[in-house]
Amino acid sequence: KPGLQVAIDGPASAGKSTVAKIVAQRFNYIYCDTGAMYRAITWKALQAGADLGDEATVKDLLDHMTIRFEPGTPVQKVFVDDTEVTLAIRQPDVTNSVSQVSALPAIRQELTARQRQIADAGGIVMDGRDIGSTVLPQAEVKIFLVASVDERAQRRLKDNAAKGITTPLATLKHEIEERDRKDSTRKVSPLTQAADAIRLDTTSLSIEQVADRIAEIIHEKE
Ligand code: C5P
Repeated sequence: KPGLQVAIDGPASAGKSTVAKIVAQRFNYIYCDTGAMYRAITWKALQAGADLGDEATVKDLLDHMTIRFEPGTPVQKVFVDDTEVTLAIRQPDVTNSVSQVSALPAIRQELTARQRQIADAGGIVMDGRDIGSTVLPQAEVKIFLVASVDERAQRRLKDNAAKGITTPLATLKHEIEERDRKDSTRKVSPLTQAADAIRLDTTSLSIEQVADRIAEIIHEKE
């Protein structure tokens, strides 16, 4: 039997990608970080000096670029055409602009189509904001990961330290709240828990505990 489709959604810095990667490894599934795709087009638009509210211009950039993932440790490598953007797409300029780009309907439509193509054969763990609700509404497993904003800001602080980014905790907290607000209030496929998604609060759980719980849920559906 081919593998399942596993959708992992939730707000910023809830631990989605870390957990999704572990779960994908355990089941030998493909891992797809859809946030990285929105970040990649945002990076490209910033590079091009485009007006991020200009939907036609940003869409044209996206239509002429490929977004590719390659295996890597500790993180998957991300390429826009032949340029590696793994680190660039995690910088504050991209992080603080991505919600503006991801609110553009034409950008969502195009990236949703690319994501469905990647997920088509099954055996996939896909993380994002609208995977269970919009991209893969028929996914067999849907998880909605949440954690308190304090916990998420602390986690982001640690991640950032490893990357040499020194944004203070209070600023991170504010940025996370702002991004959640924008992602939850946009018109097209906002961040929302699908009716049939299982909600997991990770505030007081370790990464391994969250991965174990999701693995159990997958086993039940296999
Ligand atoms: O997951 P990550 O924090 O890297 O996502 C970056 C941004 O991309 C989100 O804040 C959101 O604006 C956008 N996004 C989205 N839909 C997804 C994944 C990410 O709108 N499925």
